[in-house]
Amino acid sequence: MKRKLHVYGNWKLHNKIRESEELAKAVKEGSVKYKNKVNIGVAPVYTSLINVRNILGDNSTVKLLAQNGYPKPKGAFTGEVSFPLLKDAGCRGVIIGHSERRHLFNESNELISEKVESALQTGLDVTLCLGETLEQRENGETWQVIEKQLTSSMFHVPPTYREKLVIAYEPVWAIGTGKTATPEQAQEVHAQIRNKLEKSWLKDTSEKIAILYGGSVKPKNAKSLFEQPDIDGALVGGASLDPESFLKIIDIASHL
Ligand code: PGA
Repeated sequence: MKRKLHVYGNWKLHNKIRESEELAKAVKEGSVKYKNKVNIGVAPVYTSLINVRNILGDNSTVKLLAQNGYPKPKGAFTGEVSFPLLKDAGCRGVIIGHSERRHLFNESNELISEKVESALQTGLDVTLCLGETLEQRENGETWQVIEKQLTSSMFHVPPTYREKLVIAYEPVWAIGTGKTATPEQAQEVHAQIRNKLEKSWLKDTSEKIAILYGGSVKPKNAKSLFEQPDIDGALVGGASLDPESFLKIIDIASHL
């Protein structure tokens, strides 16, 4: 029996407020039957957060997530949004260190580490993304890169907060490209992550941390990924914008 799987949708820079509301309504309605079976979350663009929160309601089966945040609570940081403000807007969790943040916006492991700490202290759950580029994989550096991202961003987290962490392994070459890592390739990295967590933290704690896979997850490949022993769900980009395919992935997760 596997642990309860997670299926989180990352809507990225898509959808006006009305479109986000419609998508949220469809996901909410379609998710009712998966209550207690699958951990479900959606991460809309900032401008839609409050509207989506109002559609989902308090303690909804579908958890509201933000796609990013800034580690300082307030001050002269034009254009940024802090974690306390995201919490105030109704978010229960936040995605941190997505590869688009790391590569397009030059976010360093140090900044990501500050974000992880600040978000957890604010009371938000954190989905920390890790992943290697194609070049790094071809150079045989996959584990070296993942281990560095992992150790620098989360091993300072005090025990009380550890269970609020979710990890998302997302090979950069598989994101939005239609190329999925094979279930075996993903499992190999997931097992290494789990092993590292076990060695660094207690086995009990590390077993409670879900490790999601992300990168072109679709209804057609979800089952073979979810069947892997260390894959605890998915962070879904493109396929989460269509309620039918997102709900299908949730349905697959509910049967494992
Ligand atoms: P994708 O995105 O499913 O469109 O590849 C995944 C992600 O970036 O989280």
